[in-house]
Amino acid sequence: MKYFTRREFMWAGSVLAGCAASLLVPGGRTLSVGKANAAGVDFSESSCNSRDKTGKRILVAYASRCGTTGGVAEAIGRTLCDAGFDVDTRLAKHVEEVSPYSAVVLGSAVSRGSWLPDAIKFAQRNREDMSGVPVAYFLTCVTLYEDTPESRKLAQSYMEPVLKAAPEVRPVDSGFFAGVLDYSKMNVVARMVMKAKMQAKGIPEGDFRNWNAITSWAKGLIVPFGNRPFHININ
Ligand SMILES: Cc1cc2nc3c(=O)[nH]c(=O)nc-3n(C[C@H](O)[C@H](O)[C@H](O)COP(=O)(O)O)c2cc1C
Repeated sequence: MKYFTRREFMWAGSVLAGCAASLLVPGGRTLSVGKANAAGVDFSESSCNSRDKTGKRILVAYASRCGTTGGVAEAIGRTLCDAGFDVDTRLAKHVEEVSPYSAVVLGSAVSRGSWLPDAIKFAQRNREDMSGVPVAYFLTCVTLYEDTPESRKLAQSYMEPVLKAAPEVRPVDSGFFAGVLDYSKMNVVARMVMKAKMQAKGIPEGDFRNWNAITSWAKGLIVPFGNRPFHININ
């Protein structure tokens, strides 16, 4: 199997258009949900107030093109809410302030070999506040359709732009997850382009999100997000 380089996706991004998807699974103790709709795409957002309060509110912010990364963000948020945190799951571009939160999970779909600009801008804009609380990053991509050392290495490289943009932020953990390849969400041109690329790489259409892997990664955040002191300044 051949893996993607960032350059291989540079041109594909310009032809992607309309998406239409919705992912929303209720959970947690007291949950309010919403969907932010832009250009026909539904992006899940929710707030969950836990019964077993830790007194900590966590932000799960994400960037997405077609909405499916919102499902991953919601699963992470639900897991943390079940662990006693209050959780707001939001599109990164809708978050004005990070200061109310005691920890942040920030994630993005991958496009053209990188996090989406909204997520990178979020980290850059909030890097000072985020350097003072525990932060975890995650991404979704199709490279991880097959989980191999090579695909992992490539997926890790997709996070380099945000690590460079906000070097003060030192994530306590990073999650790398397989995402969704759904041609029905692309316009005719994008579908043709992506189909050709994916077929050449041997990647079929499908939803490759591994919910066990996602929730078990989120469970691993409970201790670093709940224990103080958490921030070690290496500089
Ligand atoms: C235009 C475009 C470019 C993409 N570029 C990459 C890429 O460089 N590497 C990769 O592994 N996946 C790539 N993907 C796959 C997406 O990261 C994956 O489908 C993701 O789960 C989509 O999440 P979303 O529904 O939240 O937008 C690309 C998808 C599209 C449509």
